[in-house]
Amino acid sequence: MCGIVGYIGQREAYPILINGLKRLEYRGYDSAGVALTKNGHISIEKQVGKISALEKWIGDKSMDGTVGIAHTRWATHGEPNQTNAHPHSDTNNDIVLVHNGIIENYDTLRQMLISKGHVFRTETDTETIAHLIEEIYKSTDSFEEAFRAALLELDGTYGLVLITRHEPGKLYAARKGSPLVIGVGDGEYFVASDASAVLAHTRDMIYLEDGEFAVIDLNGYVTKTIQNKVIEKQVERVTFDLERIEKAGYDHFMLKEIYEQPRTVADCMRGRLMEEEGVARLGGLSDIMHNVMRARKIFITACGTSYHAGLIGEYMLEEYCRIPVEVEYASEFRYRDPIIQDDNLVIAISQSGETADTLAALREAKRKGATVMGLVNVVGSSIARETDGGTYIHAGPEIGVASTKAFTSQVTALALLNVMIARTKTMSAEQGRRIIQEMKALPDKVEQALKSDVLVQEIAEEFKNKTNFLYLGRGYNFPVALEGALKLKEISYIHAEGYPAAEMKHGPIALIDEDMPVVVIATKDSTYEKIISNIQEVKARKGRVIAVVSEGDEKLKHEVDYTIPIPTTFNFLQPIISIIPLQLLAYHIAVLRGCNVDQPRNLAKSVTVE
Ligand code: G6P
Repeated sequence: MCGIVGYIGQREAYPILINGLKRLEYRGYDSAGVALTKNGHISIEKQVGKISALEKWIGDKSMDGTVGIAHTRWATHGEPNQTNAHPHSDTNNDIVLVHNGIIENYDTLRQMLISKGHVFRTETDTETIAHLIEEIYKSTDSFEEAFRAALLELDGTYGLVLITRHEPGKLYAARKGSPLVIGVGDGEYFVASDASAVLAHTRDMIYLEDGEFAVIDLNGYVTKTIQNKVIEKQVERVTFDLERIEKAGYDHFMLKEIYEQPRTVADCMRGRLMEEEGVARLGGLSDIMHNVMRARKIFITACGTSYHAGLIGEYMLEEYCRIPVEVEYASEFRYRDPIIQDDNLVIAISQSGETADTLAALREAKRKGATVMGLVNVVGSSIARETDGGTYIHAGPEIGVASTKAFTSQVTALALLNVMIARTKTMSAEQGRRIIQEMKALPDKVEQALKSDVLVQEIAEEFKNKTNFLYLGRGYNFPVALEGALKLKEISYIHAEGYPAAEMKHGPIALIDEDMPVVVIATKDSTYEKIISNIQEVKARKGRVIAVVSEGDEKLKHEVDYTIPIPTTFNFLQPIISIIPLQLLAYHIAVLRGCNVDQPRNLAKSVTVE
């Protein structure tokens, strides 16, 4: 899940590469490096830490060259130090490459290469690729052939870009399991693991598929399969704006993304609500509509925040569509040999569309004959491409590592799917219309919920030094409790647990004392009375309660330490509103604790390793 950028053209490559890397820093940020070709020589610079550390390290050194590659790393093999940072090279720095992914058979290859006299400088799997190409190139005249033959030897995943002294005017790129796009400019070309890295220069992209590679020079590019078949790739135009991925005046991307939610929720619904018929339309499912509608069982598979959205999906699809739904972490689903039949629908939810476990889970489901649909944010991502059909959530680029707007859009998209399926079952047109009306009101209600910000800041100030938090919710608000706890953990490094409120009695209650803040989502729904009892159980043990309540709820005001009033909606839509103050709470606590909100330690935005 590292970030890669490559450039070949007439301009100086270094600033283009560095700026591209900065846009990719969300993919990993424990070390970074750059390599440039000039006058037949390749210079390599790398440093531990963020891109700014690399820039500082390079300082005034001359970094000339119009062909180059760069990398920001999130370590898998080998400690994140300067040596293990990319780019990596062969014996004489003739072949230099950056790589995202994991080479599973690297140890066997490395032993073989050592036995042939290669000396390795790093602990990485990536260095093996450079030496392997070097070795194969000894017995062939064609560098391209050596490159291709080496790819055939690699097990595992790679998105890689390479420069070589043997052919100084070329960039080589290859993809298997890790995303790679080629940006086509005017007499110049870019390669990146994400289009946003090169969007400042071009909107025309070629998406490499797994098992494909490209050879690029100043005159153009050739794309082939690793079986050596030339393939014509279509150039696709990216439509999102660069300024949408800037901070737009907010201190952090996360805060900007929290505040974007009235719009992103609306964007997710745009053109999809059929008011008169009381139904939702999801065009991306048209090819698989029959299978979606007749599905006898639905599996939802995802990781992290997307998994929490999936839990909400389960509750709503079972309640309204009466179809059995199972939600499973993709990492479990892919390995446990689940019972999947060909009349089952598997929904893979992923913001990035690149999460390795989710991708593998959907492949497993396909292999077993299920219809697979994606609920994805990043257009053109691997999951979006490999599913039989899907729904984009249209949240726009999410840069903050802790997912916020993607979550509310995922739940919105699930709600659309829910109405669409339910209307073919028992839901009446009248009920459908009421739901559509209520969904239309969601952006305003989210806007209202954002007004809790000032109060939430006060609460954050009071509780910022606590070491543990408990989050409780029931029904549709239980996954919200899980998500609220996850947000706090991710960015403030405070231990937090989400629990179904009643289940608290079977364990967490033992932890409650005056030092334990308990965040309870207690909006007025069918479980309201029950959750009041749970709150009393906490209060009886001197726990501090912060309750997210329905606007106008006077009763709870007297029972708890703080109430955060938010608008209410239909139960199955409530999480879209309830999560807002919890996102803000995590954000403000993290800021007050001096944490790096957008790039929390050890995490990465897109986890493309298992
Ligand atoms: C990482 C991110 C989370 C995200 C999860 C799943 O852990 O830090 O924010 O929820 O991956 O990612 P996906 O892109 O598949 O939704």
